[in-house]
Order: sequence, then C-alpha cells, then structure tokens
Amino acid sequence: MEKGKILLAVTGFHPQRWRELLSAEREVVLEPDGASDPSITYAVVWKQKPNLLKSLPNLRAIFSIGAGVDHIFADPGLPDVPIVKVVADNLTQYMTEYVVWRVLDHHRQGMLYRAQQPKKIWHEPPQRPAGDISVGIMGLGNLGRAAASVLLSLGFAVNGWSRNDKTMKGVSTYAGEAGLIPFLNATDILVVLLPLTPDTQGIINHGVLKELRKRNGLGGSVLINAGRGRLQKDADVLRALDDGTLKEASLDVFEVEPLPKTSPLWSHPKVFVTPHAAATSDPVHLAPIMLRQMDAFERGEKLDNLVDRKAGY
Ligand code: NDP
Ligand code: OXD
Repeated sequence: MEKGKILLAVTGFHPQRWRELLSAEREVVLEPDGASDPSITYAVVWKQKPNLLKSLPNLRAIFSIGAGVDHIFADPGLPDVPIVKVVADNLTQYMTEYVVWRVLDHHRQGMLYRAQQPKKIWHEPPQRPAGDISVGIMGLGNLGRAAASVLLSLGFAVNGWSRNDKTMKGVSTYAGEAGLIPFLNATDILVVLLPLTPDTQGIINHGVLKELRKRNGLGGSVLINAGRGRLQKDADVLRALDDGTLKEASLDVFEVEPLPKTSPLWSHPKVFVTPHAAATSDPVHLAPIMLRQMDAFERGEKLDNLVDRKAGY
C-alpha cells in the first residue's frame, strides 16, 4: 500500500521542524496548501482552522500534537475519523517534572523565601514532612498517574479523582460527581490534570476551592493547574487567593492565552505563572511515534491512544 500523505496544520507552533521530521518518511503538505487533496490521508494538527479537515475527501485519521484534544473538537466541521492523542514518555516526563517541581516549591515555602530574600530576612518557618501533606490529582490519566507515582515515592500522601473508578497502589482514589467533595476535603495541594470537555469546563471555581482541606502544615491550600485554562475561572482563583481560601497557586494555563498583560495574575504575590509550558510537544520525540502509528495502521493494525469522541478526551 502506498504511504498516505500528511496535512500539517499546527497553528501557533513552528511547523518547520515537524515538517522536516515527518517528511523523512512521508510526503507532507503544509496548510493552507492541500485544502482538498485526495492523496492526503492523515492530518497532524494543533488548533486547525475550522472546517479545514472536512474538505479532505480521503482523510483516515487525525493526530493531535498534544495530549489534550479540545483544540480539535473546537472545529464545527470535524470529520468522523479516528483521533489519536499524544501518549509519550518524553511528554509524561516533562509533566511529572513540572508537577513535582511545583508541589515541592509550595511544600518547601519557595514563595516565602523568594519574598524574604530581597528584604534580607533570615526567618525559617516550621517544616513539615511530606507525609503530612496530601496532594490531590484531578485527572488520574496518563499524566496524573505518572506524577502520582513520583509524589508517592517522595513520601506525600496522594489522592486521585477520575471519571470512572480507578485503583492505584498507594493512592486514595475517588470518582465521579459523588467522589468530588470527599476528594477535595482530603486534599491540601490540588493538582489539575483534567482534559477540557463540556463536563469539566469551569470546574475549578470558588465553591470547589472552598472545599479543599485547610488545616495542614502548609498554612493553607494550594492550586496547581497544568490541565487547561478554561477548567478554571481566573476570577474565582483570584478571589480565592485574596480571601484566603487559597494560600498560593501555580498556574501554567489560563482562560485566555497568552495571559493578557492586564491580568492581575501576572503580578499577584501568591501566584507563580508559566506560559503553558508544563510539558512541551517535542517533534523529535513525537513525530517518530506518529509515523510508526501510520505505518501500523496501513498494515491493518489498530491505532493506539484513540480519543473517545463521546467523552471528549
Ligand atoms: P488522559 O486522557 O490520560 O486522562 C484524563 C483523566 O481525566 C482521566 O483520569 C479521566 O478519567 C479524567 N477525567 C476526564 N473527564 C473527567 C470528569 N468529567 N470527571 C472526572 N475525571 C475526568 O489525559 P492525560 O493525562 O494524557 O492529559 C490530561 C490533560 O493534560 C490533557 O487533556 C491536557 O489538557 C493537559 N496537558 C497540558 C499540558 C501543558 O503543557 N500544560 C501538556 C499536556 C497535557 P478516567 O480515567 O475515568 O477516564
Ligand atoms: C498538550 C499541551 O495538550 O501541550 O499536550 O497542552
């Protein structure tokens, strides 16, 4: 069977490196070229232009260059072909590093020490062992589970919340709507690694943050969001920081990205901002995985890491 051509449509990413790596094995057409090319069978996308994919008469599968696929579902003319999301050791490792970095920084009072240093303040706050702190991971999927296992190895108590019942050794698991409040009530540091779907949009609101456990060695609860910005209401996060519901937050994602220069989150003393950089999609690691999947698919094998269209992730 002839190798199918790839349409590359990666808004906001530099397409050149992706093109170079994918074209080592297949012909690659860079959007806006190839609009209705019948020899294109795959699309590799990030925030593709609306209705672009439906014009391809022989499209067989869509590959997201990220783990999240909300950017694909934003297309009102999305064709009914399989969608593959990224599951890759490299991306998982980056996310684990981000989560562990932010959890340790909050746990070890990084914000306080950074505020003390310019004022030359020599003050040591009380220290608590990791085992006194429970980290609750919202979204116990590929990324959440990997972060959970490293946090466990560091001695933190770990909770996990997912849509369906899950078990993971050493982790206290909760599921669905019924499990949400008990999960929050048992959590000091909330790590959000959910996908953005109609069910999860806006889930991180003031009411939810209020349910986090307060009596802990950290001196308050903490939010770390590396999932998607529209999972949270930025205004509610600010309110929670200002009224003491939250002690601190690390935010990698925001309702509007790039975060507008006028956002008070930029200069808030209790907020650590990163520019949607928790786990980057590196084409050197991800393009070969996609090419292997396309080859296997053409040999009649099943695609891995398929998105459940009904669930939206
Ligand atoms: P997975 O699909 O592997 O896991 C998603 C998890 O969320 C699952 O545990 C799932 O439950 C749970 N979930 C989904 N919907 C609900 C719901 N309504 N209620 C409760 N739990 C729910 O995704 P990944 O771990 O690979 O990625 C997670 C997200 O991380 C991505 O969708 C993306 O948005 C974000 N991301 C951000 C990056 C960044 O740089 N900031 C980089 C990469 C990803 P169940 O297990 O029952 O299915
Ligand atoms: C992703 C991302 O979804 O980088 O992979 O946000």
